[in-house]
Amino acid sequence: MSNIKNAIDALKKGKIVLLYDSDDREGETDMVIASEFITPETIREMRKNAGGLICTCIHPDFCDKLGIPFMVDILDIAAEKYPVLKELYPNDIPYDEKSTFALYANHRMTFTGITDNDRAFTIKKLTDLCSSERFSDFGKEFRCPGHVALLRATKGLVTKRQGHTEMTVALAEMAGLTPITTICEMMGDNGKALSKDLVKKYSEENNFVTINGKELIDYYINEFLKQ
Ligand code: 5RP
Ligand code: CA
Ligand code: ZN
Repeated sequence: MSNIKNAIDALKKGKIVLLYDSDDREGETDMVIASEFITPETIREMRKNAGGLICTCIHPDFCDKLGIPFMVDILDIAAEKYPVLKELYPNDIPYDEKSTFALYANHRMTFTGITDNDRAFTIKKLTDLCSSERFSDFGKEFRCPGHVALLRATKGLVTKRQGHTEMTVALAEMAGLTPITTICEMMGDNGKALSKDLVKKYSEENNFVTINGKELIDYYINEFLKQ
């Protein structure tokens, strides 16, 4: 079976898969799970054994229906009142042209929002809200800011931007799952991203499927979109 098919299979079973973007980009491996399967145990695994920022990546169609903009667009409008926001414009990201950061949110039934239980609850409830198409309840159920970073995937997904945001949403789409994923960068103990060798060791020891951006993008464009 191809590596991507293995990853799709693992994702469908609610397992974490590891996705390295590319040497030409961040050079980072993210843990990835389809958000419909998120549990407090997944959050614990991500914060203890990945250690980066836990983010939930949302398909652009859902973002449109929920009314979730890119953070840069919010800052752009707010800059009229707070001019420093213009000076802070992220026009110098070293590995990409645009950031997918959108909002930070918590479910209203969480307490602080940061615990494993609270973050898993926020992510699961947001995924349930989208899969049951209750988009107009977004503001009733969630408050902002919060402790789950929501990332808005770019329209056209990997055909337009090749970040973990778009790649993981595309992977969920290929798996026939709700196209919302939760990801976290794997960090090393040397001040850098976890090296590819250590990612390999970790994935072998823990039985995780590991894929890279090139194979995912090739499969999405040349197999999935052509079906
Ligand atoms: C949020 C990030 C990570 O890199 C994450 O992988 C999503 O971003 P991208 O789509 O740029 O890869 O910046 O912690
Ligand atoms: Ca990034
Ligand atoms: Zn990334």
